Amino acid sequence: MSSKFAAPKGVSEYLPPRSVIFDYICRGLRIPALAAGYELIELPIFEDTELFTRGVGTSTDVVSKEMYTFEDRAGRSLTLRPEGTASVIRAVIEHGLDRGALPVKLFYQGPFFRAERPQAGRYRQFYQFGIEAIGSDDPYLDAEVISIAYHGYRKLGLKDFELQITSLGDSESRFTHRRDLDSLISRLDLDEETSQRAQKNPLRLFDDKREEIRIAMSSAPLLLDYLSKESRENFDQVKAALDSLQIPYRVNPKMVRGLDYYTGTTFEFVHKGLGAQSAIGGGGRYDGLMEVLGGSKLSGIGFGLGIDRILLALEAEAKSGQSLPGELRYVDLYVIGLGDKARSKCFTLVDSLRKEGFVVEQNFGNRAIKGAMKAADKSGARFTIVLGDRELQSESVGLKEMSTGAVTSVRLDALAKVLAEKSSGLKKI
Ligand code: HAM
Repeated sequence: MSSKFAAPKGVSEYLPPRSVIFDYICRGLRIPALAAGYELIELPIFEDTELFTRGVGTSTDVVSKEMYTFEDRAGRSLTLRPEGTASVIRAVIEHGLDRGALPVKLFYQGPFFRAERPQAGRYRQFYQFGIEAIGSDDPYLDAEVISIAYHGYRKLGLKDFELQITSLGDSESRFTHRRDLDSLISRLDLDEETSQRAQKNPLRLFDDKREEIRIAMSSAPLLLDYLSKESRENFDQVKAALDSLQIPYRVNPKMVRGLDYYTGTTFEFVHKGLGAQSAIGGGGRYDGLMEVLGGSKLSGIGFGLGIDRILLALEAEAKSGQSLPGELRYVDLYVIGLGDKARSKCFTLVDSLRKEGFVVEQNFGNRAIKGAMKAADKSGARFTIVLGDRELQSESVGLKEMSTGAVTSVRLDALAKVLAEKSSGLKKI
């Protein structure tokens, strides 16, 4: 009988064995952030709707079309978080985190919600790993943030991606550019909807896939050519710092980020094996956001990496010949007990081996040996032991290496030592 219930349309969910890769990604991405002194922040899944309308901007698709907004029982308007930056800044202001050492360096991970049209790599509930660094405008910090994302991807074994960067400059740079861009756009013959989009944010037209708009925009002025002296020097410093770490990048002056708070350095990581939803992460500087949300005038920079798309990217690379990184599901030993006395001994043996750091599974349900061996096989364990009355008496077992079938006789009290020589236990995971 099929289940009456199915998960809501467009949400991503992860079951074994893919959930093992998901977990591997989450743990891998943290390592470079922890190495740079970033600390965990756990944020609410829903916030005041106004936090996002003010923080992310009403001209964005995220706010104008994609928010899951609802009223609570007291009539407050709440929204499932579509992104993490506005919440981090809200928490920094609310709890005065910016009164301590600067920059405040935080990382977060969890589900986010956007009511988008679902397709491969685009979900209504998706997962991000993100960091935010608040309280310094040093270009080295821009490069540090970008390097943390880059090293995170590399740590996972991803290869086939490109870092694209640009600068949105300061408000003076953006003002002169916008004047010229508006003037070009006003000469185009646009339909009502596109014209309204362009009025809200003309940069969006660079992202329009329609042929006639692409042709019209090919001669449009680029913000990079309008950078003030200070903004240009700042961007040059960011690029030089990336060069010094040998992090490859391409300057993409037509990059369009979907959120309104960006200023200065912005960047995106694009994977080549993913088709339309190819951005596996993105971020940038947001100089005015703290003030807009009622805090002090501090600058910040951060990124959000799409865990769902990173998983698809790892799978795409595995398909094109590279193996999925490491042996992701790892079991050192499967223990089969035959008979009441042996099962009781096995139960405590398994417990003590686990405490020593081995990954150990055991057989349940007092099955016959044939079924138990099948379960051992399925578990993917490297070794199996069978303990019956005979083994109990001799206090030794046959340690069977599952890949070769080779059996070595091992005394029970030496089992941990022998296993330690042959496998690396939990350290491997
Ligand atoms: P974003 O570019 O909107 O930035 O999202 C970051 C990443 O999340 C994207 O590159 C993509 O990998 C993933 N993502 C976004 N929407 C979806 C979706 N519907 N389904 C699957 N994956 C998705 C932000 O959210 C900013 N808060 C990042 C940031 C932090 N900027 C500064 N600090």
